[in-house]
Amino acid sequence: MAYRDVYDAWKSDPEGFWMEAARQIDWERAPSRAWFDQGPVGEWFSDALVNTCWNAVDRHVEAGRGDQPAIIHDSPITGTSRCLSFAELRDRVARLAGALRAGGVGKGDRVIIYMPMVPEALEAMLACTRIGAIHSVVFGGFAARELAIRIDDAKPRAIIAASCGLEPGRVVRYKPLLDAAIETASHKPEFCVILQREQDIAELIPGRDHEWHEFQQGAAPADCVAVEGNHPAYILYTSGTTGQPKGVVRHTAGHLVALNWSMRNIYGIDAGDVFWAASDVGWVVGHSYICYAPLIAGATTIVFEGKPVGTPDAGTIWRVISDHKVKSFFTAPTAIRAVKREDPAGELIGNYDLSGLQAVFLAGERADPDTIQWLEDRLHLPVLDHWWQTETGWAIAANPFGIEHMPVKKGSPSVAMPGYDVQILDDAGATVPMGTLGAIAVKLPLPPGTLPMLWNAEERFRKAYLDRFPGYYETGDAGYVDEDGYLYIMARTDDVINVAGHRLSTGAIEEVLASHPAVAECAVIGAADRLKGEVPLGLLCLKRGVQTSNEQVIREIVALVRDRIGPVAAFRNACVVDRLPKTRSGKILRGMMVRIANGEDVDAPATIDDPAILDEIAAALGQIGYARRQG
Ligand code: COA
Ligand code: AMP
Repeated sequence: MAYRDVYDAWKSDPEGFWMEAARQIDWERAPSRAWFDQGPVGEWFSDALVNTCWNAVDRHVEAGRGDQPAIIHDSPITGTSRCLSFAELRDRVARLAGALRAGGVGKGDRVIIYMPMVPEALEAMLACTRIGAIHSVVFGGFAARELAIRIDDAKPRAIIAASCGLEPGRVVRYKPLLDAAIETASHKPEFCVILQREQDIAELIPGRDHEWHEFQQGAAPADCVAVEGNHPAYILYTSGTTGQPKGVVRHTAGHLVALNWSMRNIYGIDAGDVFWAASDVGWVVGHSYICYAPLIAGATTIVFEGKPVGTPDAGTIWRVISDHKVKSFFTAPTAIRAVKREDPAGELIGNYDLSGLQAVFLAGERADPDTIQWLEDRLHLPVLDHWWQTETGWAIAANPFGIEHMPVKKGSPSVAMPGYDVQILDDAGATVPMGTLGAIAVKLPLPPGTLPMLWNAEERFRKAYLDRFPGYYETGDAGYVDEDGYLYIMARTDDVINVAGHRLSTGAIEEVLASHPAVAECAVIGAADRLKGEVPLGLLCLKRGVQTSNEQVIREIVALVRDRIGPVAAFRNACVVDRLPKTRSGKILRGMMVRIANGEDVDAPATIDDPAILDEIAAALGQIGYARRQG
């Protein structure tokens, strides 16, 4: 069947389509139907009983794949590599799950996981789903305050963490960050489990902290606990427009069905193949395509602890693909841009045997045509952009390689996947003509695997996604569709920016800047960056009578953002201005400042308070290397 047939088959009978896809999952009690009209946007397979860990691990052992590698940990940053078979993974996960259960963690309890790219991070996730506990993984590049916000929202019974993570040239000590977060948070976990890594042995707090191995000693392995199809498998926090992140909830059954479908039909991966998503378990790509989807499909997943460049060189990606015979590789365009900068001719590619590789998939940010072309010219393989979000958990639009390798149109993530009826709407909610830019919305219901709600925040869920266009899910992206149904994703419609494939809220950074005693008013914008796609820039108006020099204030706020949000915010640049451009009604014209920062021609809008201010902003941004015309 071609893509069009598959999409039409879904459209004409969504219920039948997803029930058919559900046959690939092992159910304790099979669903009586797919769609349930309950909750704010409906739910999938709610009356089934099923276990995520069983489907990701145990069933493959039962099927005779026990000796097949499940996880390959390739860690150029420590110079080590190890492999866990499905049977080993099952035993390790069952024991950890048993220890958690003995510690009082049960179905519905939350467990926060704060770990770097080690197999134990996946084991912790799987151990939670094994006993019906709901995990929430927090990215290691976030600071203590961000962790504290998530602790207070998720209210975990336990936290599983590592003593440290490793960044090039620096050991990131997680334990002091964890201690500070627990200290700050109002909610306190009952206990913590700490994986001690040899690069930094953390001090444990007696009575609260348990060392990973000791914690599991003597624990009886836990069996998989079947949960309802609409039981949350996990909560993953993502940036919204304020400092309070949104807790995206993922229900168990839809997650299993959708991810399993995507492995074969999008990524062209079957049981026994090797799949590598070079992201981090702290992001949705890590949840869906480092941990769950490859394992559910019975494939081997690579857990990579390193960077595309510098660990040790720009050939690392090709070395990993060659060493482990990776069949499909998934990364963010920024990683390829980093490689291209270090090895412009792609000479290092020639050192490795990439004959097992069938395609490269890009997502997380817009894939610029130059980057795709560079890779295509060197690999002579399909390089496929696809578009999705933490909220959806899997691709909204993709080139469905496993079904049909459709022609690539650079700059487009291709076409809507089954389950997604994508529409481009104007401000009034009407469908715009083909080729016209508008807000991208998905007609409800969303497919299995997507968010059914936000954790503890139904009102926010409605406001953020449902209220603007009744009957639709608002993606927060703007774009258009061409005559062949290809989508083009052009910009965010909110205050979210994308820095090196990491989703950040300018509102959250502004909250930190505004807390500095010298700052009267501020704005944060995302300026174009050749490597990271976007980087945050701060514009500050200082209070009258401030004695501290501008340079000193900027140094302090840069440190403050690193301390409060974390190094991942990559906030390094700010300038001081007398005033910010606003409309007469007082709305800060952030979009206009983005265009000035990017060196675009800007005409003062009719609503602007004082047009002269645009020259002042351009001059201030010019001082820090922005507002130059791009060559
Ligand atoms: N724990 C602690 N710190 C972390 C971290 C983690 N897990 N991940 C990143 N950081 C730190 C980095 O060390 C860096 O700190 P520094 O300011 O002291 O240098 C900072 O956060 C910014 O990191 P990053 O955005 O990764 O920039 P970089 O300059 O270190 O590397 C790239 C640039 C392009 C190589 C890198 O961003 C990359 O590999 N990106 C891939 C994108 C990706 O995986 N996206 C996920 C969604 S698909
Ligand atoms: P995240 O939730 O971190 O995955 O970020 C999702 C957002 O990243 C989307 O809403 C888009 O703004 C952006 N994004 C992700 N993938 C793409 C893509 N292929 N093309 C353009 N933008 C993308």
